Amino acid sequence: MRLKTLENKEIFKDISENTTYHLLIIGDALKVLKDENIFPDESVNLVVTSPPYGLRKKYGSKYCDKFNLEKWTIMIETVGKELFRILTPNGSLFLNVSPIPHPKTKEIIPLDSYAYFSLKKSGFYLRNKIIWHFHNMQNCTKRLSGRWEAILWFVKDIKNYVFNLDAIRVPYLTNDKRIKGKGRNPTDVWYFDRVNNMVKKKLRINHPCVFPEPMIERIIKMSSNPGDIVLDLFVGSGTTMRVARKLNRNSIGIEINPEYRELICRRLEPDNLMYGKCILKVINYDN
Ligand SMILES: C[S@@+](CC[C@H](N)C(=O)[O-])C[C@H]1O[C@@H](n2cnc3c(N)ncnc32)[C@H](O)[C@@H]1O
Repeated sequence: MRLKTLENKEIFKDISENTTYHLLIIGDALKVLKDENIFPDESVNLVVTSPPYGLRKKYGSKYCDKFNLEKWTIMIETVGKELFRILTPNGSLFLNVSPIPHPKTKEIIPLDSYAYFSLKKSGFYLRNKIIWHFHNMQNCTKRLSGRWEAILWFVKDIKNYVFNLDAIRVPYLTNDKRIKGKGRNPTDVWYFDRVNNMVKKKLRINHPCVFPEPMIERIIKMSSNPGDIVLDLFVGSGTTMRVARKLNRNSIGIEINPEYRELICRRLEPDNLMYGKCILKVINYDN
């Protein structure tokens, strides 16, 4: 299934095989997702995203993330309703959320629990709560140092969803040569290094929270097929679009801050001819 938007000749003049199409929309995801011309029902195969957490984090110089928990859950509910509408019947949603300290009391708020109840209201089923474990993070002195974030894997239909286990198998834990198999299931605890400031500087990625590419590769391989459409509605520096491109999927990214436009476009440029032809279109959405 292909998104009508991606077949729209006015947007993409040259539609051909062996090419992946990528649409970057600069605008507010809460408005853009409701636009049925861009997102008809059942038109996206996979959603991978990480929302702002309401931590007053500055994303570039224009946008500051400062809403409260109540508003945050309403935001997740609002996007959840639209994502349920636009996902294909066998589609999946991966939502990365972290436990966060309350800005005033410093109590830890389990945002993933709030997200679970918000998304259940749209009809989603939770398939796994994946623990993303990492080491490089600040050390705490008044509580245990946080070393994980959650990735909630939701499906629209608990009996019918894409799951390419063979594409993401990992080496067996033992060297026993008698074990003859394709590798083991990676389980629901994943270790991926966070993208630290040194790496970001080297790659010229000026964004506060960048997904590790190998982690997004695992998700895209596991829950979509080549030619599918992958959406990240809070695309930030464009990691999801970049990995979709590498894996021969089409992508749509939405980002509210126009300052990231250039970064996202640069990250979609070919750094290896192996990835095939890619056509990128950018729309400024100011409805
Ligand atoms: C947690 S970051 C995502 C980073 C991304 N995973 C990456 O690899 O770079 C969230 C992003 O959502 C953007 N954002 C916040 N509210 C938005 C909205 N309503 N619509 C679209 N983008 C939004 C922020 O500017 C920020 O870049």
